[in-house]
Amino acid sequence: MQTTVDFIRERTNNFKPEIGIILGSGLGELADEYCDYAIPYTEIPNFIKSTVQGHKGRLVFAEINNKKIVMMQGRNHFYEGHSMSEITYPVKVMKALGVKTLILTNAAGAVNENFKPADLMIITDHINNMGTNPLIGPNDSTLGERFPDMTEVYKKSLIELAENCASKLKISLQKGVYWANSGPSYETPAEIKMIRKLGGDAVGMSTVPEATVANYCGLDVLGISCITNAASSETSGKLSHEEVIEAANIAKAKFKSLILEIITNL
Ligand code: HPA
Repeated sequence: MQTTVDFIRERTNNFKPEIGIILGSGLGELADEYCDYAIPYTEIPNFIKSTVQGHKGRLVFAEINNKKIVMMQGRNHFYEGHSMSEITYPVKVMKALGVKTLILTNAAGAVNENFKPADLMIITDHINNMGTNPLIGPNDSTLGERFPDMTEVYKKSLIELAENCASKLKISLQKGVYWANSGPSYETPAEIKMIRKLGGDAVGMSTVPEATVANYCGLDVLGISCITNAASSETSGKLSHEEVIEAANIAKAKFKSLILEIITNL
């Protein structure tokens, strides 16, 4: 960790970010527009390369409206074959760099029948169905507790802030529970029915590991899903990654303005 942090500090002229943002599939544009320093993951000691289409794979540092931000433009996923500790390492790095608030974003399928493609959903809570947990293994008690409390992973005051920002911008928001599967296959119609019955509103393949680790090490978390599709059902037809990226493209203007407003008011 010290090697990683020293390298990043040196490459960014000792930039000290207070807010971290992980940009999900198709939502990476913010880091193209605001970029004071950028480091490809491949150059950072102990980081892993992002391989997913629509993801660039670099750590971007920028001062936006007087707030110092570090953005992950593209994330690593469990389904790529990386371990849970590998994919959550960047969260620990952000913590070590001084980040206090982490905004997690993703593309997700709608399970809630009231959601439509290009809706934004504020994550109120999550259900971990990935079959594992990023905190498995010896505990580093300097970072957090062995058995961390999970009653407010997504901080209520941040949810309220996001809602206020959205209403100011006249962006309508959905709210709901994010269900995480490991992927990479999308869900079967029977799985979607199950997720709906068990309380999921949106389904995806990320975010839960990072949120779990962020909560564990004391970061305030806000989660935003960009609903890119109706999750598979007998009636909604076949789902492709292209469709997911396309819907994220439609949503990205309002996504970007919402994120900027949140940053400004944090
Ligand atoms: N399921 C899982 N992950 C996803 C989906 C989906 O329907 N859409 C975008 N990411």
